[in-house]
Order: sequence, then structure tokens, then C-alpha cells
Amino acid sequence: MSKESADTVYEIIKTRRSVRSFTNQEISDSTLQKILEAGWLAPSAGNRQPVEFIVIKDSSIRQKISAQQFVKESAAVIVVIVNLERTTSRYGDRGEQMYIYHDSGAAVQNILLMCKALGLGSCWIGAFNDERVSRLLELPEHVLPMAIIPIGYPDEDPESPRKIPLEKVTHDEKYEEKKIKEYLMSLVD
Ligand SMILES: Cc1cc2nc3c(=O)[nH]c(=O)nc-3n(C[C@H](O)[C@H](O)[C@H](O)COP(=O)(O)O)c2cc1C
Repeated sequence: MSKESADTVYEIIKTRRSVRSFTNQEISDSTLQKILEAGWLAPSAGNRQPVEFIVIKDSSIRQKISAQQFVKESAAVIVVIVNLERTTSRYGDRGEQMYIYHDSGAAVQNILLMCKALGLGSCWIGAFNDERVSRLLELPEHVLPMAIIPIGYPDEDPESPRKIPLEKVTHDEKYEEKKIKEYLMSLVD
């Protein structure tokens, strides 16, 4: 990969923001396909690939899936789900308690970055009613909703959120709790 590619990836990672306001421009099927491919290409523990996607374009379902207003206003929603059986069959509790979160998180982040690269806005939504979403999407018991991602052409350009400086969350050789504690205390003073 060239230096230009690395710069581009860095730029996409750095400038991606959670977008919560969308224009009413539609998303083409080929664009949506690219976004789904990005999610599908994410790594998964043992390559068990428990992650699946539900694409929702129907506005009546988008209305019901989340109480967060901007979800309704997006052009499409991808619900990232995991099929528990595919990971627990090999990894048991570790699969259920850890890998499903890693696997689905990797897929979500790929989707968010691909959206950014395609000029689209998106937002990772974790606050939803699991039971309601499962019922609405007719998920069987062994399939869990992990994230809701509204996607659309952005109608806002959000500021970067304040971040704890990298050097405060990076530790040399072992965990240095004092460093991060002192920093967080300095914010309260
Ligand atoms: C696991 C997870 C759950 C989130 N849930 C929500 C949510 O329910 N609603 C929302 O508006 N944003 C949600 N967000 C987006 C965060 O608020 C956002 O990523 C954070 O404020 C940093 O902003 P940025 O994405 O622009 O860097 C979630 C993000 C993550 C990673």
C-alpha cells in the first residue's frame, strides 16, 4: 500500500463523526452494497462469521425501530445482528460474553468508515430496546441485535468531540493508573 493510501485511511478515521442529521437524498443500491461489503469483510474470532445485517429502507419500520428521532430521518438503516450459535458452537461462554461484541464492533466500525469514505453520514446506536427490535425484525432467540446504524447524506458537519489525549491513555510496558487519574482530576479542578 502506498503512503497516499495510508494518508487517506488516516484522514477517514480522523474525520469520521457521528452524524445525526440527514438530507432526504436516497442512497443507491450499489452504494449500500459497498457499505455492507465493508461490514462483511471485518475480522471475526476464529473466522466464525456470526455477524449478519438487516437492511431497512421501509420508513414505517425505521419509525418503530428506535426512539431516536434522527433514525427515522435517515435514508436507510443497517441493523447489525449476531447469530450466537455460530460462535458459541466453538467458543462457548467466551463466544457469548466476549467475541460477539468484538465481531459485531469490528463490522460496525468498518461500516461507519466506509460511509465516511463514500460521503455519507452514519451513527452507531447502542441505546435501543432489544426486545422490541427483535420482535420487529422477527429475530429467533439465538440471534441478537447488536447495533443500529442510520445512514444518509449528512445535513450537518459535527465538531470533533473532546478526547482524552493519546499520551494519557497509552501506557509504557505496564498500566500506569496514576497518569490517567491525575489527568481526569485536573479536569474537575
Ligand atoms: C457502543 C456505542 C453506542 C452508541 N450509542 C449511541 C446512541 O444510542 N445514540 C447516539 O446518538 N449515539 C450513540 N453512539 C455514538 C457516540 O455518542 C459517539 O461515537 C461519541 O460521542 C463520539 O463521537 P464521534 O462518533 O463523532 O467520534 C454510540 C457509540 C458507540 C461506540
